Amino acid sequence: MPSAAITCLLKLILVSGTVYTVASGNQLHDRQLQVLGEVVSGPARGRPLTLHLDAALPADVQQAVLEVEAVRRAPRLTMSLSLNHSHGQRSRQEAAAASLPRVASSSSSMLHVVLWFTPQPELLQALWHHCKPRNLLLLNMGSTLGAEVLRAEALSGVEKLVLIGHLLAEAEQDPDALGVYTALPFSPGGVQLLGPWRRESFGSWEALFPDRFPSFEGYTFHLASWMIDYPYLYRKNKTSSQGTGITFKVVDSLSVLLNCSYTLTVEPPELVYAGKVNGSWAGTLGMVYRKEKNFTVNMFYVTLERWKDFDPSAYWSFVNMDVFLLAPQPFPMSTNLLRPFTFGVWATLSPPWRWQCPPAWCW
Ligand SMILES: *[C@@H]1O[C@H](CO)[C@@H](O)[C@H](O)[C@H]1NC(C)=O
Ligand SMILES: *[C@@H]1O[C@H](CO)[C@@H](O)[C@H](O)[C@H]1NC(C)=O
Ligand SMILES: *[C@@H]1O[C@H](CO)[C@@H](O)[C@H](O)[C@H]1NC(C)=O
Ligand SMILES: *[C@@H]1O[C@H](CO)[C@@H](O)[C@H](O)[C@H]1NC(C)=O
Ligand SMILES: *[C@@H]1O[C@H](CO)[C@@H](O)[C@H](O)[C@H]1NC(C)=O
Repeated sequence: MPSAAITCLLKLILVSGTVYTVASGNQLHDRQLQVLGEVVSGPARGRPLTLHLDAALPADVQQAVLEVEAVRRAPRLTMSLSLNHSHGQRSRQEAAAASLPRVASSSSSMLHVVLWFTPQPELLQALWHHCKPRNLLLLNMGSTLGAEVLRAEALSGVEKLVLIGHLLAEAEQDPDALGVYTALPFSPGGVQLLGPWRRESFGSWEALFPDRFPSFEGYTFHLASWMIDYPYLYRKNKTSSQGTGITFKVVDSLSVLLNCSYTLTVEPPELVYAGKVNGSWAGTLGMVYRKEKNFTVNMFYVTLERWKDFDPSAYWSFVNMDVFLLAPQPFPMSTNLLRPFTFGVWATLSPPWRWQCPPAWCW
């Protein structure tokens, strides 16, 4: 797999050596780009980086972003210069990038940074649709804050999410001060100010990106399920609408750990497992797609088609199910017509595929 294809790649820019001179008086942009450099060389040091530049940013600001020293030194840099909320036209490169389910998991350490003037929820939707970023920094290059955008639905699944934007003047004497904001989806507080940006206060990844989902605060999720999947999820008995099985036990344990509860569905309206009927998602995935249910827990592979429309979690898998039996006593050698190979011989003959895991587990 060529590494270029793995990133959510729209365009790779080789930065030229031209020197950017800042328009005089544009101190705020200077400060914003300085903070970008401090993030990339500080808490995000060593991480692959994808920059998404709002198409509305003027050319000189775009150029200035490329001149930030820390950005140029990022171990792997991907640039998207055309982040555009119009869904219509997708370039072939974008389509190719989106056609790689590996993007989702290969990018779990990647930091996506969006630089924009005016926060637009549609733009975030496009970003989620194409890249499904795990770690997202919104850097507001304008002079308004717009932190409410952190609560946009398109960002509800982003694990690490922070906005750096203008800190309201009354909060700090310095008019160019920038603040760091986040939003915890399950806590009532709404958007939270983590503090004014200072290199020392946000020196580590954990300090800049606190856990957004420390607890689900007793929330009740509704799961799309179909209780016919022995031994994973099935009905307790023919008349009961209660489920049981391995999946049930796992979800039950998670709900205690994460402080949430859940409901199950006995069967989906269309008796389809996870496919499409007449071109629309049906069955358990159909319920999630239509937002009737929050998620599903199921035993299926993440195909390209599923990856595009859903946000799969990490795999949870059984690598082996072993049955242990008492070994029978060997027959006396004299009775053996065929003497089996010794263990060492089997080990050398063993074909390599036995030691490879299926692709999904390798993500
Ligand atoms: C966004 O894309 C549409 C169509 O693809 C195009 O007409 C429009 O000019 C683009 N907007 C920007 C700001 O580039
Ligand atoms: C779960 O969250 C609710 C609501 O915030 C809280 O009242 C309760 O104490 C929490 N339970 C545990 C075990 O933390
Ligand atoms: C089926 O399970 C329910 C509990 O879910 C129980 O009350 C009921 O007695 C069971 N029926 C039979 C026939 O075992
Ligand atoms: C699919 O289309 C066929 C023919 O139009 C129709 O009879 C059937 O009810 C449709 N199924 C669903 C689930 O919409
Ligand atoms: C869960 O699904 C219900 C029903 O569709 C919906 O009202 C609710 O907003 C969803 N919750 C979350 C956290 O998405």
